[in-house]
Amino acid sequence: MEIVERVSRLFGKQKPLETTRAALDWCARIAISTEDALAKLNVDAVNPADIYPDVFNDAKRAEEHCPIKMGGAGNLTLLYSLTEGLEAARGIETGVAYGWSSLATLLSLQKRQGQLFSVDLPYFKLRSDNWVGCVVPSDLRGNWQIYRCADREGLPRATRAAGSIDFAHYDSDKSVPGRLWGYDHLWKALRSGGLLISDDISDNDGFQRFCEQIGIAPIVVVDQGKYQGILRKP
Ligand SMILES: C[S@@+](CC[C@H](N)C(=O)[O-])C[C@H]1O[C@@H](n2cnc3c(N)ncnc32)[C@H](O)[C@@H]1O
Repeated sequence: MEIVERVSRLFGKQKPLETTRAALDWCARIAISTEDALAKLNVDAVNPADIYPDVFNDAKRAEEHCPIKMGGAGNLTLLYSLTEGLEAARGIETGVAYGWSSLATLLSLQKRQGQLFSVDLPYFKLRSDNWVGCVVPSDLRGNWQIYRCADREGLPRATRAAGSIDFAHYDSDKSVPGRLWGYDHLWKALRSGGLLISDDISDNDGFQRFCEQIGIAPIVVVDQGKYQGILRKP
């Protein structure tokens, strides 16, 4: 699987995202702001860049010095605040790139000596391996494990190593089959009361289909024109 993905990226033949108008309409109809979503979950909204300005200034510089262009950051206020609200000790994320989501969650996890397990298939053609996670400072890396492979290989390894998790953040393979497989795998690893958060859910109907499959109504967040979904495990 990983070889197929690497080769298809190498030749620029990765399938385009199945963007559907219906997915965008569904998100737009039910979306609320980051602050309203956090209030609904009884969590204070905190932008980590406001309380760790030096860390974020260094991180921005690290991204500027990175010679290659990778995927952009998710909703960092949402991620940091939810990790805080859960008092999380263990989380899994898919999709690292520069490492903005890793940075936001690690800043909260470090307070409890918590651990983050990340899965990321580097951009092979770009030789990005050495730059993946470059915005995360060395003092946050002690409790961070990155599996540098495709989700289908890395997620089983991550869930085996992590055991029961407090949160999962999905931000990697955005295809419908990739999402359905990844969400299901992460959902099974979540503890009761834990949260599954997914970025870019308006790309296609993968997230909506997963919500229907498990019969749980999500919270959909809109942030700067992008949509994130949140599901709490009963
Ligand atoms: C949007 S970026 C992640 C951004 C990151 N969460 C942040 O906030 O900075 C997506 C990442 O997922 C990785 N990726 C894409 N498909 C993948 C797959 N099937 N398995 C693992 N990683 C994948 C890409 O190489 C890229 O590094």
